[in-house]
Amino acid sequence: MSVLSGKKVLLGISGGIAAYKTASLVRLFIKAGAHVQVIMTPASKDFVTPLTLSTLSKNPVHSTFFNQDDENEKWSNHVELGLWADIMVVAPATANTLSKMANGTCDNLLIATYLSAKCPVFFAPAMDLDMYKHPSTIASFKSLHEFGNTIIPAESGELASGLSGEGRMAEPENIIRFLEADLESKLPLKGKKILITAGPTYEAIDPVRFIGNHSSGKMGFDIAKSAANLGASVILVAGPTHFTVSHALIQVVNVVSAQEMYEACHQYFDEVDVAIAAAAVADYKPKNVATQKIKKAADNFVIELEKTKDILASLGNIKKNQFLIGFALETENEIENAKGKIQKKNLDLIVLNSLQDQGAGFGKPTNKVTFIDKNFNIEPMELKSKEAVADDILNKVIANFYE
Ligand code: CTP
Repeated sequence: MSVLSGKKVLLGISGGIAAYKTASLVRLFIKAGAHVQVIMTPASKDFVTPLTLSTLSKNPVHSTFFNQDDENEKWSNHVELGLWADIMVVAPATANTLSKMANGTCDNLLIATYLSAKCPVFFAPAMDLDMYKHPSTIASFKSLHEFGNTIIPAESGELASGLSGEGRMAEPENIIRFLEADLESKLPLKGKKILITAGPTYEAIDPVRFIGNHSSGKMGFDIAKSAANLGASVILVAGPTHFTVSHALIQVVNVVSAQEMYEACHQYFDEVDVAIAAAAVADYKPKNVATQKIKKAADNFVIELEKTKDILASLGNIKKNQFLIGFALETENEIENAKGKIQKKNLDLIVLNSLQDQGAGFGKPTNKVTFIDKNFNIEPMELKSKEAVADDILNKVIANFYE
């Protein structure tokens, strides 16, 4: 999945021949899963039509402060547009537009929005080779660099003038690649490794029967996806579940029993920065597993159970610098029980689910959790989707590294 997926991209188009390539650029943004709004300078409309860009971006195109076509929205709000965006990309950025950006010459909607934008701004210059090297253009680049804006360097090749050299706007594919690489390098969990357990475990009684539980694994899979989207490499140790995930940064290790989950976790724990135990591990397993299917005979049948290893506690026991997060599912005396587990399992944070809360627990799309940290700070959260709870958990991980 592209790092641009779900991102709000404001594309500013100024008046150069390369503007015709923005139709492809918008297509590629949409294909990557981004939401796109386009602002055009008046001059750019000579090179590409607003209708094309509006159709491809699935949004109205903004061009003037005053919107004559739309009775309901007469005024194009540059402040709102600027605040809406996660990133702003000016492509093509002509010498004229770059100079206006560098000097705050606010005579069109694109520049007004640029001055209002709080998000990262990228610009892809497009001009003739001599213009590209002119000291005034270089001065614009320098100012924009000082403002914290990022240049997507022009490419070399044949130019509209017939000359050949540096100054062509980067090809749309290369603009996308550049943005993805830049955004990925700035992801907050880039370079971090996270071990996550998910799902139930099945404890065999005989070759065809087991003791299990109703955990779907959704919470753990959502945490894995959220962590990977923030740049972390994830080892997801999953018990039997119907969920699958395909992400370049997630390695799934499938296990069945608590013992297998224990072994997988210990294989990887040394190399990770964070471990999150979201699995509903069986606390007990049959003491003896029959090698053949057990035949029914007597009216009563007793299975002797013995404790499984507590995976989380065993990790707490050997942890060095790892940030260790556990879950607690409680039905009574929740806070005190959860605090007890923090101490007993040497955790940094516990995510408490109370079954007394509506919408929390197994098989539900939502969860209501309370965070308790190792200093016993308690933070109750609202009822949310499990995806949103996963994001909250990862925010705690990020805070641990950066606060
Ligand atoms: N856990 C684990 N290994 C086990 C049991 C639990 O790693 N054998 C982890 C779970 O993944 C969860 C946390 O421990 O993160 C809490 O599990 P829970 O079942 O609530 O707590 P227990 O310690 O088993 O205590 P009890 O069942 O008595 O509440």
